[in-house]
Amino acid sequence: MAQPSPFYITTPIYYVNARPHLGHAYTTITADVIRRFHQMKGAKTFFLTGTDEHGDKIVRAAQKEKKTPREYVDEISGQFKALWPELNIQYDRFIRTTDMAHMKVVQEILQKIYDAGDIYFSEYEGLYCFGCERFYTERELVDEKCPDHEVAPEKIKESNYFFRMGRYQDWLIDHIGKNPDFIRPERYKNEVLGFLREPLEDLCISRPKSRLQWGISLPFDDNYVTYVWFDALLNYVSALNYPDGEDYTTFWPHAQHIIAKDILKPHGIYWPTMLKAAGIPVYQHLNVHGYWNVSDSKMSKSLGNVADPLNLKNVYGLDAFRYFLMREMSFGLDAGFSEDGLIQRINADLANDLGNLFSRVIAMTQKYFKGKAPGGAAEPSMDLGIRAEAGKAIEAFEAEMEKFAFQRALAAVWELISFMNKAIDLAAPWELAKKKDQQPQLASVMAQFLAGLRVISGLIYPAMPQTAEEMQRHLGLEDDGFYLLDRLKAWEVIPEGTQIPKVIALFPRIETKPEQAEEQADENPKTKPFKAQITLDDLEKIDLRVATVIGAEAVPKARKLLKLTVDLGSETRTIVAGIAEKYAPDELVGKQVVVVANLKPAKLMGVLSQGMLLAAVDEKGTSVVILDRRANSGTALR
Ligand code: MSP
Repeated sequence: MAQPSPFYITTPIYYVNARPHLGHAYTTITADVIRRFHQMKGAKTFFLTGTDEHGDKIVRAAQKEKKTPREYVDEISGQFKALWPELNIQYDRFIRTTDMAHMKVVQEILQKIYDAGDIYFSEYEGLYCFGCERFYTERELVDEKCPDHEVAPEKIKESNYFFRMGRYQDWLIDHIGKNPDFIRPERYKNEVLGFLREPLEDLCISRPKSRLQWGISLPFDDNYVTYVWFDALLNYVSALNYPDGEDYTTFWPHAQHIIAKDILKPHGIYWPTMLKAAGIPVYQHLNVHGYWNVSDSKMSKSLGNVADPLNLKNVYGLDAFRYFLMREMSFGLDAGFSEDGLIQRINADLANDLGNLFSRVIAMTQKYFKGKAPGGAAEPSMDLGIRAEAGKAIEAFEAEMEKFAFQRALAAVWELISFMNKAIDLAAPWELAKKKDQQPQLASVMAQFLAGLRVISGLIYPAMPQTAEEMQRHLGLEDDGFYLLDRLKAWEVIPEGTQIPKVIALFPRIETKPEQAEEQADENPKTKPFKAQITLDDLEKIDLRVATVIGAEAVPKARKLLKLTVDLGSETRTIVAGIAEKYAPDELVGKQVVVVANLKPAKLMGVLSQGMLLAAVDEKGTSVVILDRRANSGTALR
C-alpha cells in the first residue's frame, strides 16, 4: 500500500478582540475531525491554529479593558489555547502573530516582494473615519457617513506602501480555471471569480506609525507597520518554519485551509497573489463553510443560565456536541444552532440508533456467550450482508470526507447502523439461542454484529473520538490502531474469547422537562400532556400513545411476564406485560408499540406497571401491536 500524502490543515488565526465562541469552535473542531480522518489513512499530518494579535482593532479592545495590548493579547490568546483541549482538539502548533519567529518571516517575505518590485510607495487620498481608524470607499458609506460612527469621513492624504496585486489577476483566474476545486464548495469559487471580474486594485499593506504602533515594522521603512492581513496570512508558512524548516518542506505542498465565508476575499485573492509574488507555491485547497446562526431567545428559554452554546458540551457531553455540529451543518451552507435540535439528534441518532445497537449486541454477547466474543467460524448460510454493507459505508465515508462533506460521511455511517439494527431483528438471535443445534449459527451472527460494531467504532472516530474509544474498549481493540482505514476495510472479526465487558449506555436519552413539554404542546403532539387516569370501562377516554421499547427483561418467578422500559417522548415508564411466552426480551428492544398511557398504575408480581401494552390475544397466543414504520415516541393515536 502506497504511503498516503502528508496532510496539512489550518484554521483561521482568530482575532483576540473577542472571546472564543461557537463559530470558532466549529471551524477548529472541523479541522480536528479532518485531521483525524487523514490519520486513519495513515498519513503524516500537521494541524495549525492560533491567534491574530496585531492591528488597531486589538489596540482599541485593550484600551476598553484598560490593559496594555501585550497584557490583553496574552489573556485572550490564552483563553483560545485553553479551550481547544476541552473540545478534544489536538493541534500540533498554536501560532501567535506576536511570536518573534513569525514576525521575522513576515519581514523576510516583505523584503523579498519589495526587492522583486511588487511593493511600491505612493500617496493615497481617501475618505478616512477617525473613529474606525480606517479608509472607506464611497460604496461602503451609508448616506455618505461611516456606518459605525454615523459621521461623514474626512478626505485625507496619506503616503503608504502598496502591493501590486493587480499584476496577478490573470494568473489567478487561470489557476482557478485549471484547478476547479482550488476553492470549494463551488459557490465560493464562483464568488471569488465574481470579484475577479472587476479589475483588481493594488493592496495597501502599511499603516503609518503615527496612527498605529501595534504591528510588525516594515523592513524597508521603519515609519510604518504592516497591514494586519498581510501579517496574519503569512502565519500559514511561518508556523512551518519557512523557508528551511523540515515541516515546511514536508507539509507546505499539501496545505489546505479551512475558513468561513466571512474571510473569503483575503484567502481567495490576497493570499494566493501574495504567495505567487513571494515565489511560494500556492495552497492546495481553500475549504469554505457557512455561518452558524444561534437563536438567542430559544437558548435562554430552555437553558436558563446557560446562555453560551459552548456550555452545552458540559450539559450534553462533548462527543454529542461534536457530532451535532458535524452532522447538522452541510459544509458550505449556513445552519441553525438550537438546544432542541441538539437534543433531537442525541435522542434519535445517538441514543436510539447507535446506542441501542451497541447495547443490544453487547447484552446478547453477555447473555449467550457469557461475555466472551464467539468464534467467527464462517457459517456461509448465515451471512447477514453486514460485511458488504460495511464495505459500502467505508467507501462512501472516505469519498465524502475527502470532500469535507462531513454531514454526508456521517449519514453513510448511520445507514450501516440502521442496516445492522434491522439485521438483528431479521436474524433473531433469541430464536437461535433457544435451539441447541443452532449454536454455530448463533455464534456466526453474533460475530458479524461484533465485527460490524468494530467498523462503526472506527468510522465515528474522527467526529467522536471518546465514544469510539469507549466502544473499542468493549470490543477488546485497545491500542490496536483499530481506526486505520485499511484495517477497517479488511473486515476483521473480534478474536474468539475476547472479554466483552458488561453493557453501558453510550448515550442516555435526554428527557425534556415537563414545563417544556407543556410549552410545546400546541406545536408538537408528541409532548401533549397526558389525559387524566381512567378505568378500563371508560373506553372513550383511553389515551393511546406510541412507545419505543428501550429495555426488556424477564420478571423473576413470573413465567408469563416481561418488564418493559418504554420511552413515551416526554418520560420513560415501566410496563409489565403478559407476553413472555411469545416474546424474548431482546426481540422487543427498539420496537415501537402502542400503550394505554392513562391507565391507573398497578402492581404485577411486585413490579409497578405504569400503563398497558396493546396486544391481540387469540387461541395461538399473544401478538403485540407494533408500528409498521417509525413515529415519534409519545405520539397520540387517533
Ligand atoms: N483574524 C482573522 C483571520 C485571519 S486568518 C489568516 C479573523 N478572525 S476571526 O476571529 O474573526 O475569525 C473568523 C472565523 O471564525 C471565521 O472565518 C470562522 O472560521 C469562525 N467563525 C466566526 N463566527 C462564525 C459563525 N457564526 N459560524 C461559523 N464560523 C464562524 O477573521
